[in-house]
Amino acid sequence: MNDFFFAKDHLDFYHEYVNVEQKYLAGIKEVRTKLEILDDEFHHRFDHNPIHHMEWRLKSPHSVVEKMKRRNLPVEVSSIKGNIEDIAGIRVICHYIKDIYRMSDLLLRQDDIHLLKIKDYIKNPKPSGYRSLHLIVQVPIFLQKTKKYVYVEVQLRTIAMDFWASLEHKIRYKFEGKAPQHINEELKACSD
Ligand code: GTP
Ligand code: MG
Repeated sequence: MNDFFFAKDHLDFYHEYVNVEQKYLAGIKEVRTKLEILDDEFHHRFDHNPIHHMEWRLKSPHSVVEKMKRRNLPVEVSSIKGNIEDIAGIRVICHYIKDIYRMSDLLLRQDDIHLLKIKDYIKNPKPSGYRSLHLIVQVPIFLQKTKKYVYVEVQLRTIAMDFWASLEHKIRYKFEGKAPQHINEELKACSD
């Protein structure tokens, strides 16, 4: 649903969230550039690009409000810190599984990147069959007057894993999370 229809309920939040978005967008740009530079270097040295392509998004204000409500947090910008780690999201689609671990290792080795969480759904796929490597990192951004740290969620996956995840997401959405058992089983089989 369009965020406009929800805005009247949490006007202060939506008003302030504009500043938040600007900071997290800077975080996305920092991490994207780091990954692009690593990819360029790989191409230059080995004539191979580990990254097929990247996608990124800022979590919509409405999704942030919904997540706060689900978690019984007050709908305030101050609730974000320490609670919501996926305002900034980057999806890195790689060619091979080996590329995923190479890129994440090289990114995490950089001394201005702090790893907060790592979830390896490639080594341990979710029961649904979902596979990806998830990192929550903290990256510094430099503004006119301050240096701030923002969280960025990085999801690394192969083209095949991405293809599977988009389809599964679409099916789950279509059945509102209650897809028939045979479809879930087929999805799991495809993932395997
Ligand atoms: P969130 O509260 O949604 O952030 O979950 P979480 O904190 O437990 O994080 P998790 O690492 O499980 O998942 C975060 C993101 O991974 C989701 O927002 C999706 O983009 C993706 N994801 C996780 N599980 C699945 C899944 O089963 N199917 C698909 N298509 N995507 C998934
Ligand atoms: Mg999420």
